[in-house]
Amino acid sequence: MPVATPRHYLMCEPVHYTVSYEINPWMDVTRHTDSGLAVRQWRVLRDTYLELGHTVETIEPLEGLPDMVYAANGATVIDGVVYSAKFRYPERGAEGPAYQKWFADRGYLTHTAAETNEGEGDLLTVGNLVLAGTGFRTERASHAEAQELFGLPVVSLQLVDPHYYHLDTALAVLSSDPAAPQIAYYPPAFSAGSRKVLEQLFPDAVIATSADAAALGLNAVSDGHNVVVAPGAVDLAAALRERGYNPMPVDTSELLKGGGGAKCCTLEIRGTAAGAGETGA
Ligand code: ARG
Repeated sequence: MPVATPRHYLMCEPVHYTVSYEINPWMDVTRHTDSGLAVRQWRVLRDTYLELGHTVETIEPLEGLPDMVYAANGATVIDGVVYSAKFRYPERGAEGPAYQKWFADRGYLTHTAAETNEGEGDLLTVGNLVLAGTGFRTERASHAEAQELFGLPVVSLQLVDPHYYHLDTALAVLSSDPAAPQIAYYPPAFSAGSRKVLEQLFPDAVIATSADAAALGLNAVSDGHNVVVAPGAVDLAAALRERGYNPMPVDTSELLKGGGGAKCCTLEIRGTAAGAGETGA
């Protein structure tokens, strides 16, 4: 039976949320967005974590950074060590330093990335491995940088469908327990070779349907037992229930207009502040 463990999350309230540029196929600048509705949906997501007993901290939303709500892209944090994000598109460039500063101010050891990477959007920790996406945003060279920084094996995975431009849109970590790591994923989002790698590492993974993927159902947040997931991902929810997980549908439809869901809005902080400072770029 999958077991929940308490989590520590960082989130950013979408007060400045809008779609004013297009950097993924979900974004359409001609479509109306409602930041009030985005905030209400975001608060339900935050309250869901709090009700589950998790810790949620927040970073101040900055004007002019409408995508800052997608906190998962802000950094990757393992064992209290922070690998800063270095965004591919200039529209999001200022988010990397903003998130890095949040961590540095709280005594975390932060590492300024030399290579382009979009945080947990593409670097997902599962057990003692880091699964790392590339193809649209994060450069392969950052996988090596992350491996050297964290001292964990980093497995590169090639994304091939622009709708699933970040790894966390195509793959969800269900259990990060090193004794029983488990994921769910959508195979067509990956190259043939990467699919084989995933089959080898996770022969018993939950396989999502195209409808699950299109609802951005894989952009899910699991605490090891409870899985916050888009309500439209009905096949995935059924598959999770069958495996002993507790799917918890939370509607983040307004934030889907920017190409993100629950996981995009949630940066997991693993470990505690190791000591203030910065390691070389
Ligand atoms: N509009 C944002 C972008 O395209 C969405 C980011 C979604 N975040 C994620 N972790 N997948 O960069």
